[in-house]
Amino acid sequence: MILPMYIFGQPVLRKHAEDIPTDYEGLQDLIDNMFETLKNAEGVGLAAPQVGLPIRVVVVDLDCISDDEPQYKGFLRTYINGHIIEESEETTDFEEGCLSVPGIHEKVRRPQRVRIQYLDRELQPHDEWVDGFVARVIQHEFDHLEGRMFVDHISGLRKQMIRKKLVNMTKGNFACSYKAKPNR
Ligand code: NI
Repeated sequence: MILPMYIFGQPVLRKHAEDIPTDYEGLQDLIDNMFETLKNAEGVGLAAPQVGLPIRVVVVDLDCISDDEPQYKGFLRTYINGHIIEESEETTDFEEGCLSVPGIHEKVRRPQRVRIQYLDRELQPHDEWVDGFVARVIQHEFDHLEGRMFVDHISGLRKQMIRKKLVNMTKGNFACSYKAKPNR
């Protein structure tokens, strides 16, 4: 089932998301629905707050770019109760977008590598370093779990240039190709 996307301005996107118990009701269905919603919106990552739930569940689909990047063939991962516990000093700049912030793409500086702890969808624990594009997507998605969005990392002139768009988005003035929960 495709879930409506919560758009910039929705309070749930600013909440700190909580860890869930491993017997969280409907967890596997939620994960399936999140993957379906992500695919429909042609994104690579989706965090539960983006579908209105302030819980620590993230799905990442890099399989959808595996025609160009064959190393990601079959990369469909779920991160439950995920946390970043260490990050590299080395940083990189990369242009990001977000399904909850339609129409805005901006370069964001983030650590090159991060160490994460999480449960996969079989509830097996993991503790690993991720690098490159995976680290980029993970940091963007895990930011959602802290109530942060990629536009928060932008400052100065660039921020001023997108400010009006963000205000309009909050008022419900935005366009996207997927089902969105209307603001107000
Ligand atoms: Ni996002």
